[in-house]
Amino acid sequence: MAMNDLDEQAVAILRTNDRGGFTVPTARLYPFQWNWDSAFAALGFSTFDLDRAWREIEMLFEGQWPDGMVPHIIFRRDDPDYFPGPSVWGTEAEPPTSGHSQPPVAASVVRMLHDKDGSEAGTGRATALYPKLLAWHRWFHTARDPDGRGVIAVVHPWESGRDNSPDWDAALANVEPTAARSYVRRDTGHVDASMRPTQSDYDRYMSIVDSGRACRWQPACMADTGPFFAADPGITFVLMRADRDLLALAESLDIAEGHEEIADWIARAEAGIDRLWNDAVGGYTALDLKTGKSAGGLSSVAFLAWYAGLVESARADKLADGLRRFLDAAPFAVPSFDPTSAKFDRMRYWRGPVWAVINSLIGRGLAEAGHTKLADRVRRDTRKLIERAGFFEYFDPQTGAGAGGGNFTWTAATWLVWASPSASEV
Ligand code: DGY
Repeated sequence: MAMNDLDEQAVAILRTNDRGGFTVPTARLYPFQWNWDSAFAALGFSTFDLDRAWREIEMLFEGQWPDGMVPHIIFRRDDPDYFPGPSVWGTEAEPPTSGHSQPPVAASVVRMLHDKDGSEAGTGRATALYPKLLAWHRWFHTARDPDGRGVIAVVHPWESGRDNSPDWDAALANVEPTAARSYVRRDTGHVDASMRPTQSDYDRYMSIVDSGRACRWQPACMADTGPFFAADPGITFVLMRADRDLLALAESLDIAEGHEEIADWIARAEAGIDRLWNDAVGGYTALDLKTGKSAGGLSSVAFLAWYAGLVESARADKLADGLRRFLDAAPFAVPSFDPTSAKFDRMRYWRGPVWAVINSLIGRGLAEAGHTKLADRVRRDTRKLIERAGFFEYFDPQTGAGAGGGNFTWTAATWLVWASPSASEV
């Protein structure tokens, strides 16, 4: 590809955040390997170093648990700059890891790497990863959907990857907080507190970690006795897409194992997703499985329905109206939460800011479903944000200012693979 200046900066960020086969999301704020960050990093590497791209995913699976779960953080070593570190999670995993997972985008990434690679070595690497991906998806469909509802739940807002989204407010309000004085946050030493989850949220995050540790992170214990269990439209859509990609990967690798099982998961999800449709807000919303209550507002992950391959027309039209409402209310697409809601907070992490990676998934889905104008707007805005502000963790949808961590791996990766004028991938 013909590189522009920002391409070169993005490549430099990936190389700087490389810790020897895996990438940290950004120095200091997130000093370990994070699950979905790493998968997106692999896509970025694939634009200039395919071998390194495969390595990123292979190192992610070094943290896979015997039951198939792929943890959201692989620590490898402690770092006093981050809280909560491995001793707080108490998982006894080797290498040390956190105790729950994160959105499973890796199968979709492996399919893309395999399509791009075409070499015998690439086929070998995809073939070796396939059973690991299959085991991880199986874990999600059982551990996080124990009643076979067809929607995937999270045991902690951190598992959704969207920590302080208003999606979790009501469910989190029922969690007994841990005393703030009993621990010291590190995140607010790196980033302004106004851009991070509140103290009250953190006290509840820590309380869920305490209960997970008491459950030894066993899924049944967490689902039954943990204080938080809520179905997540984000993970449900990401997994639905990842299942389709895993099936396509199996077919192109000529692997028979898993076909029927994956097809069943997809069918179950297509039937189950109705449970998350919320007519009052015109979209798919989170569902607290402890109380049966739906979250009352729309977050940007609702717009992953197209990416997941759901195109049922009446709902798709309503969703497109919702997306247009988001875009009319904010100059930069796509705010992570409804910009017309009282809960919208334009700089606070997942309560309003734009995330380039989510845009790339929404944009791909829109393009595939033929919503070309909306897809173009999402990609154009992402490009503009990065050109104006740089490779930030997230962006203010009103002013375009960058927020959170800088020199951010997944923003750089998203630029290279999708947002840059020189990107070849749609
Ligand atoms: C953090 O440390 O803020 C992460 O989002 C948890 O995964």
